[in-house]
Amino acid sequence: MFMKRVFIDTDGEFDDFMALVLALKSKDLDVVGISTLSGIRNLRDSTDDVLNAVELLGRVDVPVAEGLEVSMSQDLAEERKNILRIWKSGGRASTRAIRRPGLTPVKEDGVSLMIRKVMEAPGDVTLITLGALTNVASALLREPKFAKKVKEVYSMGGAVLVSGNTTPVAEFNIWGDPLAAKIFFNSGMHITMVGLETYYQPVLSGEEWAKVREVNEATRYCFENFDPWFSYLIGLHPDWKGGLQIGDALTVGAAIDPALMKCRRCFVDVETKGELTVGQTVAYGLSRRHPLPKEANTDLTVDCDWKRFNSLFVERATS
Ligand code: RIB
Ligand code: CA
Repeated sequence: MFMKRVFIDTDGEFDDFMALVLALKSKDLDVVGISTLSGIRNLRDSTDDVLNAVELLGRVDVPVAEGLEVSMSQDLAEERKNILRIWKSGGRASTRAIRRPGLTPVKEDGVSLMIRKVMEAPGDVTLITLGALTNVASALLREPKFAKKVKEVYSMGGAVLVSGNTTPVAEFNIWGDPLAAKIFFNSGMHITMVGLETYYQPVLSGEEWAKVREVNEATRYCFENFDPWFSYLIGLHPDWKGGLQIGDALTVGAAIDPALMKCRRCFVDVETKGELTVGQTVAYGLSRRHPLPKEANTDLTVDCDWKRFNSLFVERATS
């Protein structure tokens, strides 16, 4: 079987956990390494839950390296206070993982591991990014040949045709480090952007959710650990009827089967200075009024076959 080599960069949230379940259970993916970074929660929470996923899935062969705690451009302290309020409303004292992983990160830092894995197999490693782009931008700055050696990138982040989820115009991963995102989009790498146009499409029904939840120790842990967060999300989206989104896993799905996604090719850039618009992803080439300023850099996913994706996810997660 052809195996796609992938390196995953993740901020260890609930849907990142589900993305790891999908990736690590997919026989057509060879996960050569994982780097972590801070996100909604701090670096320690994120790394612990990535280690928990890898350990509970029995994939201790996959190296996990701790990446960067601090964004290049944004102080996330206020946002984290809001997140903590949500966890507290679910009866938790903090956002700490309820399980201490037995596994520890490798000695190498996340950015170094990412660079090494890409440079060791030039043109063969697909990057999957599920958090802010701080680690990736650092790799691009540290190793000038990095961009050319990456095969392609599947990236969760941004909102071009729909509104943002952190500000009216900005999606969280881009808003978390707009400068890093600008470096990323201007790097010359071939990017497939899984932004908010498609991110919220795969919502698992209560029935599918129950199946996934009970299948193994990893998924049981995930649902227990992130319980306050689920309740919050479900409350926010009555249209999901008690179901649950698994957005970051769709980015892994797109890497597994690009035909799941409908894309439009365009040039995406990032607002880094706007008073109201910082972290906005702006696309050119989608209308005649705003033609491409230079060569397109992004396949923007505008729709997806979410039913087929949900089946693929449930089948692999429960395998
Ligand atoms: O905006 C959604 C993104 O923010 C997802 O990757 C989620 O896990 C958080 O990182
Ligand atoms: Ca994420």
